[in-house]
Amino acid sequence: MKKTSAVTARLFRGTPRELAQLARALQRGELVAVPTETVYGLAADALNARACRKIFTAKGRPTTDPLIVHLHDLRDLARIAEPNAAALILARKFWPGPLTLVLPKKPVVPDIVSAGLPSVAVRMPQHPLFRRLLKVSGLLLAAPSANPFGYVSPTTAEHVCAGLGKKIRYILDGGPATIGLESTIVDLRDPAKPRLLRPGAITHAALQKALGRRVLLAKTGLRSVRGAQVSPGLLKQHYSPRTPVVLHSHFTVKQVRSSGEKEAWLFLAKPRELAGPHIHWLDPRGTLAGIARRLFSALRELDDGRFRRIHVELARGSGLAEAINDRLRRAAAR
Ligand code: TXA
Ligand code: MG
Repeated sequence: MKKTSAVTARLFRGTPRELAQLARALQRGELVAVPTETVYGLAADALNARACRKIFTAKGRPTTDPLIVHLHDLRDLARIAEPNAAALILARKFWPGPLTLVLPKKPVVPDIVSAGLPSVAVRMPQHPLFRRLLKVSGLLLAAPSANPFGYVSPTTAEHVCAGLGKKIRYILDGGPATIGLESTIVDLRDPAKPRLLRPGAITHAALQKALGRRVLLAKTGLRSVRGAQVSPGLLKQHYSPRTPVVLHSHFTVKQVRSSGEKEAWLFLAKPRELAGPHIHWLDPRGTLAGIARRLFSALRELDDGRFRRIHVELARGSGLAEAINDRLRRAAAR
């Protein structure tokens, strides 16, 4: 008889004893979902190819899509990558934090982690529980977002459980992510030509200021799942709810009133004149940090709400607004 391998995830709060248990699981080559300040990650020992392969199986992620390696200490960077002066400037300024650097890789990094590319993406996360787990385990941890491939990234342990609860055993619950959008990714393979591959909470302007030079913008949204990818996270359709998402530069009261309750309306700020089960907002006052923090949760809730479509307002302004709108465009892409 065929043995079924159904597993059920357990949530851990992160007592010292639990962290030691999770560290041992990682050392054995098992997967642990971890909280970060951006989104939850699905972690494995980055130098263990067999362990990292399990990430792709659990997520249903194509092996052409490389992983981000997380480290506890700046000293670990040179173990896996060839840092250059620009990388050190950004690392010293923004780490620990929501910034990922793409650098030439060292041979110890397994091909499965870098999708066969000669580069590796590296980040030092800020979340205190994840940092403790990195330290206690003594490992470098490869981790993409902890969601089934293509779906909205998880910002709570409950989101991870809903998507991967039957595929993984361990979830470290560190509360809701404080930033709520995946890290900014900068390509620094050529330090003379830094390139922003994915916008995030560390803004384009902040990167240019820190480096004292122009940072190029990658063309986003044009790559296919199969083709060779410089940044496979730039897949057009990504972060997508099942319910179609329609983007608007702003909503008018008339438009919302005439739509009926099968259409959900997700405002940036709390609207004054409208209410009902189909009226939602991201932040009471519409601050960009509040919008970013709530965006993925709100999309997930509305996706479960049996609406015909989800209408969303695009954020206004630059900086974090660009990262928010980047995720919204991907959510709306079909
Ligand atoms: O905030 C984050 O970045 C979260 C947390 C868990 O750290 N991670 C995350 O990983 O969102 P995710 O699912 O986006 O996957 C990693 C992405 C890839 O899709 C790709 O865009 C980029 O990182 N990446 C990884 N290695 C790369 C490389 N060598 N060159 C270019 N891009 C790379
Ligand atoms: Mg992801």
